Amino acid sequence: MSKPEKIVAVKGMNDILPQDAPMWELFENTAETILKSYGYQKIVTPIVEDTSLFARAIGAVTDIVEKEMYSFEDSMNGDQLTLRPEGTAGVVRAVLEHNLVYDGPKRLWYKGPMFRHERPQRGRYRQFFQFGAEAVGFSGPDIDAELIMLCRRLWDDLGLQNVRLELNSIGNADERLRHRADLIAYLEKHEDILDLEAKRRLHSNPLRILDTKNPAMQDMVNGAPKLLDYLGEESLAHLNGLRKILDRNAVQYTINPRLVRGLDYYNRTVFEWVTDELGSQGTICAGGRYDPLIEQFGGKATPAVGFAMGIERIIELMKGLGETQTPSQCDVYLVHQGEDAQLQAFILGERLRDAGLDVVLHCATPAGAGSFKSQMKKADGSGAAFAVIIGEDEIASNQAVVKAMRADVDKAAGEQQQSKVAFEDVVDYVVDQIVGDHDHDHDHVHYHP
Ligand code: HAM
Repeated sequence: MSKPEKIVAVKGMNDILPQDAPMWELFENTAETILKSYGYQKIVTPIVEDTSLFARAIGAVTDIVEKEMYSFEDSMNGDQLTLRPEGTAGVVRAVLEHNLVYDGPKRLWYKGPMFRHERPQRGRYRQFFQFGAEAVGFSGPDIDAELIMLCRRLWDDLGLQNVRLELNSIGNADERLRHRADLIAYLEKHEDILDLEAKRRLHSNPLRILDTKNPAMQDMVNGAPKLLDYLGEESLAHLNGLRKILDRNAVQYTINPRLVRGLDYYNRTVFEWVTDELGSQGTICAGGRYDPLIEQFGGKATPAVGFAMGIERIIELMKGLGETQTPSQCDVYLVHQGEDAQLQAFILGERLRDAGLDVVLHCATPAGAGSFKSQMKKADGSGAAFAVIIGEDEIASNQAVVKAMRADVDKAAGEQQQSKVAFEDVVDYVVDQIVGDHDHDHDHVHYHP
């Protein structure tokens, strides 16, 4: 019989394996705690939306809509659907559909997978995870500052250094229109330097040309008219208001007049958090204002601002910190031999979990139930603080052997590494050893050194 063909993951889409899961959890817990501490509420929207939502929100002449969307026809009813390439459009749709801002502005956060058919490379995937926030119904620079400052808090809490903030204002539609005319005239004067991509965008989306990575175009682009010079009084006041709050709070940033963003919904404030430690995909978080978007979707004019961070990129930075210590899998590993011992182990396991402990009970594999020796090896590898061991002798004496597995919990180290403890006292004994009291009402006492 020929071997069945191996099935592998779709190109550019990754598994998150158990060894990386603790790092993801650490990121998500830290981010969620911070968002909550600023008053943000969680929102979850579907992964699939009508294609027209993204085309209208993100803009027809953008990389995402032109060439990166996973779009398909629902074979059941012919609906045109798309796997979401980003989170803002879905949140805006949900805000409108459920009239979430009827009683005032809302601070929202979300996380989840996004899909873009990009050329995969380090830090750029076809399925990637974003953690994002959208503040809907706020108009002032204060909320822009708040979003930026909660990002700074997150980098600090995660221990990420070498992350810098780039800031720009792309003004309002009128200001961009005036700038656009001058920009096109300037670019036309330098048409010989424009690459194919830039020529294609010259009249459809010239602003994006400023974002080019083509080295041959850098000097030309640096000399192009700057949108910042076209800002009117209100846009300037908004930018200066934001800068004032950031300055007073010692948030460092550089103004980057070429920062324009790849999605069309932005106006005024745009920003990116970037690092040099990830090669060419160094933007770990990006966002800005999108004041006109909700009105464009038929809602009443409602200003809004938000950001999204690429979780894979942040995880890679976290890995670079060298904190590779894998947390223990459990507090207690239950070792047993014989049918009666197995039944007793199940009962003890449930009682230990009732007390808030994490417990792994040894289970049979195709190789068999496992000798005491091989089970103890597993107990060791699990990182458990204690092994609770039950065999025939223990069943006969109604006592388990409780063995401290790590020096940091072995209070009696040197004198006695293991004790015989009556079955009914095992929970008290272990909890006492781990947290030093007999109060079992704590939610979770998983012991981390
Ligand atoms: P974006 O700049 O398209 O903005 O994406 C935000 C972040 O998602 C990027 O800075 C990057 O960290 C991550 N990211 C984007 N594409 C990929 C990819 N192919 N692979 C890995 N990571 C990626 C938005 O999505 C906007 N919705 C942000 C926003 C929210 N603006 C206002 N509110």
